[in-house]
Amino acid sequence: MTANAVLTLPDGQTVALPVVVGSEGEKAIDISRLRYRTGHITVDDAYENTGSCRSAITFIDGDRGVLRYRGYPIEEVAKRSTFIEAAQLLIWGELPTTEQRMRFSDLLTDNSALPEDFRRHFSGFPPHAHPMSILSAMINCLQAYDLPGQVIDDEEELERVAASLISKVRTIASAAYKSSISEPIMYPRYDMKYTENFLHMMFSRPYRDYVPSPEATRALDLFLMLHADHEQNCSTSTVRMVASGQANLYASAAAGVCALWGRLHGGANQAVLEMLTAIQTSDVSIHDYVTKVKDRRSKVRLMGFGHRVYKNFDPRALILKKAADDLLDQMHVADPRLELARQLEAVALADDYFIERRLYPNVDFYSGIILTALGIPVEMFTVLFAIGRMPGWIANWAEIHRDPESRIYRPRQVYVGQTERPWLLQSQRGGSSEPDPV
Ligand code: ACO
Repeated sequence: MTANAVLTLPDGQTVALPVVVGSEGEKAIDISRLRYRTGHITVDDAYENTGSCRSAITFIDGDRGVLRYRGYPIEEVAKRSTFIEAAQLLIWGELPTTEQRMRFSDLLTDNSALPEDFRRHFSGFPPHAHPMSILSAMINCLQAYDLPGQVIDDEEELERVAASLISKVRTIASAAYKSSISEPIMYPRYDMKYTENFLHMMFSRPYRDYVPSPEATRALDLFLMLHADHEQNCSTSTVRMVASGQANLYASAAAGVCALWGRLHGGANQAVLEMLTAIQTSDVSIHDYVTKVKDRRSKVRLMGFGHRVYKNFDPRALILKKAADDLLDQMHVADPRLELARQLEAVALADDYFIERRLYPNVDFYSGIILTALGIPVEMFTVLFAIGRMPGWIANWAEIHRDPESRIYRPRQVYVGQTERPWLLQSQRGGSSEPDPV
């Protein structure tokens, strides 16, 4: 039997609202009929307390630092899986059998190269174009080549399109990078696995092969895996919003890339490295920087700290911190910014400002160190995040696409602007007195 919550309105009217309970015991009040029954809507700026959908993909308990993909703890996924297996798990809900894994692997390989005339579009961007701008435009453009009919009829077609998008997003990303440094775009190799192949396309040249070390490949695969999904974050909610209007998968994913670009979201990994570099190359001490961050008037934030959902610790940050330590040891890279990051973390975690607001390092705090050690340029960091997040966007798009009850997302608002008023003639508006148009 469903329990009800009872809401009493200012006029004394009471209304019973059903309580929905999720599979992990999360309780939510279903207000979908509230306006119809009472004339009231709810307001929740920045959606801090709003469940926008019911989803079976990823579970987060921000107070306990729990993250699970389809029920599997992120620590297990990180230890036992690969980015591609995690992608299949997220999109289809179960760990793939050997046959399913091999079929998907073949699809990834078959769909890794870009059509020749598609490659010409890269030369249309100016050399200073940000790779996120190229990525979003090219993913949208890819729809015309991959899915001209725009309709995915069945799971077989979804598998082909998902493989194509996951495979080509990395080919597009590396091509965007090569274009930006005026080097020839590399073709994917058919004898390399996903992440190794990406590093090859990033760093090989026609006259010199780049062969990444297993440690480098594994560290990048881990980075991608940890970014693969994170329930209703800004970009995934954007993908779902676009998908709810029945836009095709490519248009929805391109919108996700645009949302991810922001400095408070996926752009934070780039911002962390820029912050560390700025501190390192200036006279500002860590203490002075933290003091500035705490002063609200400065509008400066400690990038890579804080999270809307995690109020204890971000489990991905713990895994990446260890991976960053290991990788730098193995590769014998001495990056002074890692030491700086460690000192900043220690100072912030002991400071009352951060303790009271429950601000902890998030996934971006250490990911930039790993990407730097791998030789990835800073302006590509958010692109790497987008490659990692693609399976989550596809899984969320598919969840809407498969749901026969799915409806278009259309929030309401509380209007706080001008009430109705008479039109002002030009002569009544102040400024220079041009004659009123006839
Ligand atoms: N540095 C300093 N102060 C902070 C920080 C920070 N990084 N994050 C939050 N605060 C403070 C706010 O100023 C505010 O203080 P107040 O109560 O005195 O006004 C309080 O903590 C609450 O902050 P909100 O902005 O309300 O928190 P919100 O949940 O809206 O924002 C966010 C979360 C955007 C992640 C924020 O913590 C932030 O800007 N962090 C830095 C950017 C970043 O690392 N983003 C990556 C997030 S993870 C991801 O997208 C993959």
